[in-house]
Amino acid sequence: MDTMKAVRIHEYGDPDVLQYEDAPRPVVKPDEVLIRVHAAGVNPVDWKVRAGHAKNILNYSFPFIPGWDVSGVVQSTGLDTSRLKVGDEVYSRPDLARDGAYAEYIAVRESEVALKPKSLDHVQAAAVPLAALTAWQALFDAAKLQAGQTLLIHGAAGGVGTFAVQLAKLKGARVIGTASKKNHEFLRSLGADETIDYPTTRFEDVVHGVDAVLDTITGETMERSWKVLKKDGILVSILQPPSPEKAAAHGVRCAHTFVQPSVPQLNEITKLIDAGKLKVIVEKVFPLWEARAAHELSATGHVRGKIVLRVI
Ligand SMILES: NC(=O)c1ccc[n+]([C@@H]2O[C@H](COP(=O)([O-])OP(=O)(O)OC[C@H]3O[C@@H](n4cnc5c(N)ncnc54)[C@H](OP(=O)(O)O)[C@@H]3O)[C@@H](O)[C@H]2O)c1
Repeated sequence: MDTMKAVRIHEYGDPDVLQYEDAPRPVVKPDEVLIRVHAAGVNPVDWKVRAGHAKNILNYSFPFIPGWDVSGVVQSTGLDTSRLKVGDEVYSRPDLARDGAYAEYIAVRESEVALKPKSLDHVQAAAVPLAALTAWQALFDAAKLQAGQTLLIHGAAGGVGTFAVQLAKLKGARVIGTASKKNHEFLRSLGADETIDYPTTRFEDVVHGVDAVLDTITGETMERSWKVLKKDGILVSILQPPSPEKAAAHGVRCAHTFVQPSVPQLNEITKLIDAGKLKVIVEKVFPLWEARAAHELSATGHVRGKIVLRVI
């Protein structure tokens, strides 16, 4: 009763450091709920953390459990919780600084847990919180995207991009997305107005005067993005913070966002999903014990939508 199956990391390194093994079952603190994990979403941050790329920012003690997207059922509740009850079907983007969801159970603060969309199964629901919240916060909190504006999304076919395309269209914006050719028809099916084949076309040659850029790629893609913005437009990066000096030199604004848990925003996202307005794209589902293969696929940088680990 006190142990569970989990994928743990005992040292930073390549995918082989992901160990499927027995681990202690978490015990809930008063403000937490214990979730029986049905599925865990896989995000690029998972393999970046595993490889040690985030060790200067996030201080984990070994062994730890990765995976910061979860869908499951409330198994027990802490003494100070009140909103959720045993048996509730829930989803969450739990705290990145703590053990994650590659496990049979996870303890999560009740304040970070929302009821999952009724129209989704757990595998689909686990693909939502981290990527959809990132897209929401970048577009609506940082860029303050408005109807009628034009938005360029770099990495439109990825986990964050597929939600961003749809959320921007729901807002009434015009959306241009960069992706390789194989993803163009797919992006149009999500509502993109225009697609740019980034391997063959320099986006700055064909895009001018946009209100906002959402950059999920960074590096030279970010540096080439300044010139496509109209005066006072905004570049929002979810990776490297853009330079305020460069923004000022181009007469534009910039912002950097790092996804924060938000039950009110997840509830808005749930409503859109259950109304059939927001689709969840899952490219591949692996069983929990194949987390290594999931990390290898994620690290290719060419996943369409999301990868999910099925736990039960
Ligand atoms: N700040 C935050 O809070 C936050 C939150 C979530 C994610 N992130 C970070 O943001 C990045 C994106 O996350 P994600 O989950 O969307 O990643 P992802 O799902 O792995 O993104 C894969 C997508 O990127 C596209 N792509 C690759 N190179 C490209 C390029 N040069 N130009 C345009 N598209 C390109 C691929 O399309 P093709 O196959 O067509 O090339 C693929 O569909 C990751 O580095 C992640 O760590 C940050």
